Amino acid sequence: MTISSGRARIRVAMIGVGAVTAYHHVPGLALDSRAELVALCDADPALLERRSSEWGTARTTTDPLELCGWSDVDAVVIATPNDTHAAIAVAAARAGKHVMCEKPLGLSAGEVQSMYEAARDHGVVHMTAFTYRFAPSMRYMRSLLKSGSLGEPRHFRSQRFLDWPETSWGWRQYKARAGAGDLFDMTIHRIDFAIDLMGPIRRVCGATARFAPRDRTVDGKACAPSEVDDWSCLIGEFETGATGVWEGTTLAKGYHRDGFGHEWAEINGSEGSAVYRLHEPNTILLGKTGSDLAPVAVPAEFLKPASSPRDPAVGAPATVFRYDLMWEFLSAIVEERPAVPSFWDGLNAQLVADSVLESHQKRAWVDTPLAAV
Ligand SMILES: NC(=O)c1ccc[n+]([C@@H]2O[C@H](COP(=O)([O-])OP(=O)(O)OC[C@H]3O[C@@H](n4cnc5c(N)ncnc54)[C@H](O)[C@@H]3O)[C@@H](O)[C@H]2O)c1
Repeated sequence: MTISSGRARIRVAMIGVGAVTAYHHVPGLALDSRAELVALCDADPALLERRSSEWGTARTTTDPLELCGWSDVDAVVIATPNDTHAAIAVAAARAGKHVMCEKPLGLSAGEVQSMYEAARDHGVVHMTAFTYRFAPSMRYMRSLLKSGSLGEPRHFRSQRFLDWPETSWGWRQYKARAGAGDLFDMTIHRIDFAIDLMGPIRRVCGATARFAPRDRTVDGKACAPSEVDDWSCLIGEFETGATGVWEGTTLAKGYHRDGFGHEWAEINGSEGSAVYRLHEPNTILLGKTGSDLAPVAVPAEFLKPASSPRDPAVGAPATVFRYDLMWEFLSAIVEERPAVPSFWDGLNAQLVADSVLESHQKRAWVDTPLAAV
């Protein structure tokens, strides 16, 4: 770490400087005086050069493994295509770097297991970028649930409907690079926060489907068609006996909503129901017998983690809570504690997502293992 005004600053490098790094991680880092952006890596030299000048970061490489060898980097954020995460995360952990990695952590639970073990065994902070855990109404819903206000949780329900163009998704539409489509891109977040809220999922019955061929790029050029799902669903049984139902699609016409789409995640407890919606993350819907679901403002203490440097009044609410991912990663490093959600959480979500694919392939219910700690 470098010493600045008497305090050590965490030296962070971004590996993969595409969309999510620009949208979540660099703005989050820019808010936090405990860290500085010291290096960038991307396989695309032109993009790398552009980001280097935009973000004022002179040190760059196109080789993630070279970056993992740099001794003046303390922590890395991995935001590259899914097939590259495992090798980079394992190399970074072995080099003693703290690692935040994008979801899905890998292409399969086997890969993710190796990432988790490398990070655990080398004693580095490891974090999975499960963004929606940081939404204010999600944090408030969790608190209501854990404090018993909703009673005994019985049902969990998640809908994630996007109205995306039917043109090529680039690397995201090829199995070898992405693993799966909507299931690994979108539904895996909802599997993760369901486990966080309701506890382990014991068995699932799942299905995926592909409707859009995606054999044209945005500018009309022919490309190899999509190999992955654009719709995914599962029914799940939690260890507690509660039930869960999830559906995700990128083909829901009329659900654009300024790009945020429709997201609804709900818990029905024995005493009441609570609903989180992405497009209005500072409001929760609450209801109970005799009083229908109605909007309630999320209390100030849940708009952001207490010590997050973010001003919740600034920026689009459905965007800015994503900056708290970086706050959590840096806080875990400074406080020498595990980050939440960790690679272990990423592994448990991956085990369930893999089980959805297995269930669909076998046309049968599948038991989902819980990862060993
Ligand atoms: N947490 C979230 O809400 C969220 C949102 C979007 C994307 N993601 C995840 O983030 C990751 C990146 O997604 P994106 O939308 O930013 O994709 P992107 O295609 O915009 O960016 C990926 C970048 O990685 C670079 N790259 C490819 N291979 C590389 C390699 N071997 N080494 C270094 N750089 C390499 C590409 O050149 C590109 O610039 C994916 O895993 C995706 O699932 C998560």
